[in-house]
Amino acid sequence: MSGNYNLKLRKNQYLLPSGHMGWPFIGNMLTFVKDFSSGHPDSFIKNLVSRYGRIGIYKTHLFGSPSIIVCEADMCRQVLTNDETFKIGYPKSTKEVMRCKPVWSFSRKEHMRFRRLISSLTMGHNTLEMYIPRIEDIVINSLEELSSMSHSIEFLKEMKNISFNIIIDIFLGSYNQHIITKIGNSFTDMHAALFSMPINLPGFAFRKGLMAREKLAKLVKPIVEERRSMIKNGEKTKDKDLLDIFLEARDEDGWKPDDDDIIDMLIGIVLAGHEATANTMMWSMIYLTQNPHIMKKAKDEQEEIMKMRLPTQKQLSLKEIKKMVYLSQNHNAKVGTFLPFGAGSRHCPGSDLAKIEISIFLHYFLNNYKLEIVNPECPMTCLPSSKPIDNCLARVIKI
Ligand code: HEM
Repeated sequence: MSGNYNLKLRKNQYLLPSGHMGWPFIGNMLTFVKDFSSGHPDSFIKNLVSRYGRIGIYKTHLFGSPSIIVCEADMCRQVLTNDETFKIGYPKSTKEVMRCKPVWSFSRKEHMRFRRLISSLTMGHNTLEMYIPRIEDIVINSLEELSSMSHSIEFLKEMKNISFNIIIDIFLGSYNQHIITKIGNSFTDMHAALFSMPINLPGFAFRKGLMAREKLAKLVKPIVEERRSMIKNGEKTKDKDLLDIFLEARDEDGWKPDDDDIIDMLIGIVLAGHEATANTMMWSMIYLTQNPHIMKKAKDEQEEIMKMRLPTQKQLSLKEIKKMVYLSQNHNAKVGTFLPFGAGSRHCPGSDLAKIEISIFLHYFLNNYKLEIVNPECPMTCLPSSKPIDNCLARVIKI
């Protein structure tokens, strides 16, 4: 695990760890991109270890800024949980493309306010239970459609569609599918630019990401305006979604989000809330398919859940999801060293929701389908996140 927090490296003011700053402006980006995009992120770290020793913390220069890279689990946890000493920093490309101020705000109040709003819709037994039928609908229909395809599909892309439709449903309720597809396309361009070099020239991913962000804001603004007027006219009474919560939000000191704040928060949450979930769904299925003995145990557990069910019950319940003990087991890591959802004041507020989405997806996949991977030996890339370079070309087969 590694963390990348920018520091103000004014001369002689801070004691810096060993490392090197690379070339002017591009710093160490060339080596970083080479190692990460060829699926060997460890080479970048190993190079630092071999030159400067196993100190776990190094100075470097990435994404256009002087940076410190932290690559020991214990040290990463210390950075994440010590807000007094470490201030959050994102690469310039991430900040400018995503432009979700509350996420990287230095103001604790603004950040807490944002988390309170999201948490009201991503945590708590009753809230999560309410999403299950909506998530089930999306998963069941998508898997049925995928299995009916006569050609191979990019499995990761399809997982992104599923997790995107879920997060949009939670945020906006059901909405015009044509607009949702356009919103989805803009997110794809933005995501590709999040960890790019911040070069605002035609042909560069960063420029494409900035343009996609503008387009997205234009697509979302009328939705926010329409909903605001529906609430005002008393036309929106049931099934509150996150947009309603944002529109009705008021602080004790009178603060209420304007349309631009809401668009910023929506973009931040949708971006944070669907890419990682889709990656996890893809990797779960790849690893299960590659390890039939583990797949069998996971399937047995799902079948057992179905056997115990009353004939009158048609859908999954939260109680059943909590019984998926084998499915939710993690890597048996030393306490505090496995942090898939981060730690401290920035710990992922969507972790419970993500676990439920993934459990529902795996429940239906394992009970009804199998995955045939076209290129099991496909090379990997780790930029912007780990995936086979063919996006896991595969077929979903109904069993
Ligand atoms: C498997 C799926 C997911 C993984 C692995 C994951 C992982 C993470 C991690 C590691 C962080 C901390 C980043 C940091 O320290 O700066 C984070 C933050 C965040 N996540 Fe997730 N996440 C997932 C799903 C979701 C979902 C479904 C949502 C939807 C609500 C979500 C919303 C957020 C938000 C809004 C933040 C920023 C929190 C803050 O800055 O206070 N995530 N996530």
